[in-house]
Amino acid sequence: MRDILVIGSLNMDMVIKTPHIPAPGETITGTFSAYLPGGKGANQACAAGKLGGSAAMLGMVGRDAFGESLLNSLRTAGVDTSLIGRCDEHTGQAIIYVGSTGNNSIVVLPGANQACDAAFVAAYEEEIAASRCVMLQMEIPFEAVCTALELAAKHGCKVVLNPAPAVGPLPASILKTVDFLTPNETELSLLTGLPVENDEQAVSAARSLIAEGVRCVLATLGSKGALLVTAQESRLFPACRVQPVDTTAAGDTFNAAFAVRMAEGASMEEAITFANAAAAISVTRPGAQPSIPSRAETDAMLQGE
Ligand code: ATP
Ligand code: RIB
Repeated sequence: MRDILVIGSLNMDMVIKTPHIPAPGETITGTFSAYLPGGKGANQACAAGKLGGSAAMLGMVGRDAFGESLLNSLRTAGVDTSLIGRCDEHTGQAIIYVGSTGNNSIVVLPGANQACDAAFVAAYEEEIAASRCVMLQMEIPFEAVCTALELAAKHGCKVVLNPAPAVGPLPASILKTVDFLTPNETELSLLTGLPVENDEQAVSAARSLIAEGVRCVLATLGSKGALLVTAQESRLFPACRVQPVDTTAAGDTFNAAFAVRMAEGASMEEAITFANAAAAISVTRPGAQPSIPSRAETDAMLQGE
């Protein structure tokens, strides 16, 4: 039995550092560019591996050099890549502009991720059954996410659904199958149709999701930290104070770190504190997967070293 199966996207990110995010019609000069491994699913799998979880990834890449490079990045992080298929589409790509405050703007070209469809996921039911926790995002076809949720529920797996990138409301039938829903502020607002401009509004929006059947909402609030809302409580876990360089994959690192500690039997409080620390380290470094810290680095951060 493995701890975590991540079902989701793999993208090669073309990262371009700029003084600010270009406005429509504006041309500006970049200061740095690099191809770095990314994709929300792959980032979460990579983080789970680097942070010490036993993790596998189910997804799809193309038969090209980007696909090979993404597989290598996950293998180096200790992730089981044997469930990642290869197809004739190009490997997923993302163009990411990173501004001087670490904020970003992203365009995704899904490519092979579209072939991670419902039939592909259903063929791996035994692998889902052999996983304590299934982690999902929204960069593969929606029907594939629904199939994964159904199978995870059937086999009693814990489910973490990171509803990113931003989508509209999800049906209650989906929400009922989710143990931990982890939107950022924008996603929380889009999921509920409610404004999320302050902590009180975030709590109200999260409560409306609990009323629809989600067991626990764990909203990430960027530099403010993370908000836990269950039927019993709401509690803000403040972020660690760091100087952000590039926030890409902060949410992915947070999700995986939380799942790793929960799989180890930690309390929710311990898991969220650990996730805040790992995500804070990730924002101090450029890129998605290269920014994800190791377990030792995260433990050191928590001990104030
Ligand atoms: P992304 O899409 O860029 O990966 P996100 O929007 O999904 O990120 P955020 O809410 O921005 O997710 O951040 C996730 C977590 O990362 C936060 O809950 C927090 O723990 C940490 N974090 C993000 N930004 C900062 C920051 N400036 N300082 C410290 N921690 C941060
Ligand atoms: O969450 C960050 C990721 O979103 C990037 O790595 C990019 O590939 C996009 O999918």
